[in-house]
Amino acid sequence: MTDQLLHGELAKYYDKIYSFKDYLDEAIRLQNLIMKHLESGGNALLDVACGTGLHLKHLKDDFICMGVDASKAMLKIARKNAPGVTFKEADMAKLQLGKQFDVITCLLSSVGYVKTYANLKRTIQNFSSHLKKGGVALIEPSHAEAFYVAGEPRISVYDGKDAKIARVNVAKAKQSTAVLNMHILVAEKGKDAQYFVDTHELGLFDVDRTLDIMKEAGLKAKYLKAGLMAGRELFVGVKK
Ligand SMILES: C[S@@+](CC[C@H](N)C(=O)[O-])C[C@H]1O[C@@H](n2cnc3c(N)ncnc32)[C@H](O)[C@@H]1O
Repeated sequence: MTDQLLHGELAKYYDKIYSFKDYLDEAIRLQNLIMKHLESGGNALLDVACGTGLHLKHLKDDFICMGVDASKAMLKIARKNAPGVTFKEADMAKLQLGKQFDVITCLLSSVGYVKTYANLKRTIQNFSSHLKKGGVALIEPSHAEAFYVAGEPRISVYDGKDAKIARVNVAKAKQSTAVLNMHILVAEKGKDAQYFVDTHELGLFDVDRTLDIMKEAGLKAKYLKAGLMAGRELFVGVKK
């Protein structure tokens, strides 16, 4: 189940909207970070909130990969983008896969969708219980300035031959939640242009509080200023 149009009926435009992202480069950075922090020695990797599977596409030759996401529509695309990978519909706050992994990734602010600290606690407990001893969790947070500055206008544009897509928003804060009203304009060959408004609400979790939650969940936790994308930080947790 998903509340966001972009993860539901507009999922077919997701890879175009995020075509500015270099998933191959991020996968290489992930591998370097995994090599640096991993103490368990295996190569079973779970990508939580895997979306359309574009990180897994570039990781699947070096890891035994599984992807989970709350959205059927995103998983349908992920199965095409990363053939051979096991995918499953699951909510990260209620994760119960009955197995453990060496690596868990949760990227591009996806953890923010759990919204509350109570859910963040459950989610990080779930990551910890799905990690082997010495396994590593890599979590890209949602509070980062690159992602969210209240009142600042943002745009992403896809300018392909097949379609033109513009997505704009001005972030607002509602207590400790970022409210992103995404205005999406899509023009496709042979069709009338379409306009959508898609609201995303994400928890803006405090760094120190997140580190405490990771430690309480049995992870050696640290916060890296330089993560995968420019301007994006990363939490790293190693299971004790
Ligand atoms: C911004 S996308 C990121 C997708 C992918 N990780 C990437 O880097 O492109 C956020 C994803 O989180 C998923 N999601 C949101 N809430 C979730 C939850 N509670 N459990 C699992 N997945 C969730 C959405 O369906 C969506 O695919």
